[in-house]
Amino acid sequence: MPLFGLIGYPLGHSYSADLFNDRFRKECKTDFSYRLFPLKTVSEFTKLLKDQPELCGLNVTIPYKESILPFLDHMEETARRIGAVNTIVIRRGSHDLKTVGYNTDAGGFLRSLPVDIPWSGALILGSGGAAKAVAYALQQKNIRYLFVSRTHTSECFLPYENITKEILHNHSLIVNATPVGMSPDTEGIPPLPWELLTPDHFLYDLVYNPPETRFMHAGRLQGCRVMNGEKMLQEQAGLAWDLFMDPFH
Ligand SMILES: NC(=O)c1ccc[n+]([C@@H]2O[C@H](COP(=O)([O-])OP(=O)(O)OC[C@H]3O[C@@H](n4cnc5c(N)ncnc54)[C@H](OP(=O)(O)O)[C@@H]3O)[C@@H](O)[C@H]2O)c1
Repeated sequence: MPLFGLIGYPLGHSYSADLFNDRFRKECKTDFSYRLFPLKTVSEFTKLLKDQPELCGLNVTIPYKESILPFLDHMEETARRIGAVNTIVIRRGSHDLKTVGYNTDAGGFLRSLPVDIPWSGALILGSGGAAKAVAYALQQKNIRYLFVSRTHTSECFLPYENITKEILHNHSLIVNATPVGMSPDTEGIPPLPWELLTPDHFLYDLVYNPPETRFMHAGRLQGCRVMNGEKMLQEQAGLAWDLFMDPFH
């Protein structure tokens, strides 16, 4: 009875269990199941592996995409370069097990990005696991980017209050890679100088619950094109599915 799941905390916002369990049903994999495993601390991961001997793979979400790294036996090259993991494959032998970390967020983001837009550059809001995966994906497309952060201060991290008209003119893609606006705190909105946004801007929110965040709504009021994280969710889950199913072919 192969078991898969999602670790993170809290997990009320996640659609992953529905997504995987629907696909198991569609593909007649009736023995397979996917469950949510909310872990209050990342160190509970080791106990989870012991308590769930049928666990073959996990997805990782906020806030553990980076803090999970020391608990893994191996990291695939893309995940190592990004420095964040959102998919773990668990290989069990008769006496031991090995965990391998992957990152499908970068590939999922790339596949979801509209191809018809000549981006002048990108602002990535946040500096966590998803922000790093987005940065890696943009590098593959030769799109230059800056992180916008509340906490980091260095050349490639810009404080929100330093976003000027000129910076916005040179960065037409703005990606929200923070949990701001995500259910249940749907009133949250990143502190951008909203009046300076124009119809040339494309606002991409990695948040998919709710389907329209305040970030997207405020962008639409300025005439911007907007998109939520639903397509990326589907794409990254598809890539994780391929990794999970590999041993079962
Ligand atoms: N659609 C998808 O497939 C998909 C995939 C991955 C992630 N996501 C979503 O992306 C979001 C970020 O996920 P993550 O795993 O990267 O989380 P994370 O590792 O915890 O990082 C979130 C980052 O957001 C910033 N942040 C946190 N709280 C904030 C606040 N109150 N105000 C402003 N900034 C704040 C922080 O950056 P600073 O301290 O530098 O400001 C933090 O590093 C989540 O909502 C997640 O659900 C969606």
